[in-house]
Amino acid sequence: MTKSDLIIDGKAFAARLLETVSVEAFEFRDQHGHAPGLAVILVGQDAASQVYVSTKMKKAEEAGIKSYPYFLESTSSEEEILSLICKLNSDPLVHGILVQLPLPPEIDERLITTAIDPAKDVDGFHPVNVGMLSQGHPKLVPCTPLGCLLLLKDRLGDLAGKKAVIVGRSNIVGKPMASLLLNENCTVTIVHSRSRNLRYECSKADILVVAVGRPRFISSYYIKPGAVVIDVGINRIDDDSGKQLVGDVDYASALSVAGAITPVPGGVGPMTVACLMKNTLIAAKSLAAAIDN
Ligand code: GUN
Repeated sequence: MTKSDLIIDGKAFAARLLETVSVEAFEFRDQHGHAPGLAVILVGQDAASQVYVSTKMKKAEEAGIKSYPYFLESTSSEEEILSLICKLNSDPLVHGILVQLPLPPEIDERLITTAIDPAKDVDGFHPVNVGMLSQGHPKLVPCTPLGCLLLLKDRLGDLAGKKAVIVGRSNIVGKPMASLLLNENCTVTIVHSRSRNLRYECSKADILVVAVGRPRFISSYYIKPGAVVIDVGINRIDDDSGKQLVGDVDYASALSVAGAITPVPGGVGPMTVACLMKNTLIAAKSLAAAIDN
């Protein structure tokens, strides 16, 4: 096996997924007279969020999805954001609503995400969608863990019985990833900053998903030989080799033991954006079907 066989090319997979979405999005437009619509709300000037939002809008356009951007001042009140969401909830041209996180500290994230109509919640953060996923009846599923799952299934096929360890317990990645893998009949462990024997737990994993936000946190010592490693981290660092993007996994070290690994960049990142478009299309189709019935 060559080194390149070990690399899970998320960028190429995402491009194929976007292609499929765009074919169906254009069909949707032909049938309904308008494209699937995605409202993107950014509050404030967080530099990383600005980059993510502009990538999402660019990819939406490529996929035949119309984006409706809303750039709000960092001083916006909860009431202003809630009244925008209320307007978008009843806008028939908008099928997906995304509020880019993190929000300014004065804004209650839970209040905002819970105000989005669950049928338009393309991030899958609404408690209704979280509940549906955890009960094994997923509707709209968070984009990053969904992207990880698609890559894992593509590489491994059936995941039943595999031991999956997830490093990180966030609502955006760790917890929904655990639900998705449980639904695939994996044996799932979540480890986090307060876990004991973190290295030992990781070293038992057939599937290791890392989402902790700490550059190069996981090295080869944490990885079982042959394990599939999914690196969700995107960390901007400035070291001897200059400014660069690195994951939560020490890629060079992990490559010597892993059976497969996602690179950073070019692994999970593009999948998150492609899954957002997939979710917008799903939302558009089910909202249209609900109107027809
Ligand atoms: N911030 C980091 N990841 C995400 C995501 O998947 N969706 C949103 N809305 N904000 C994020």
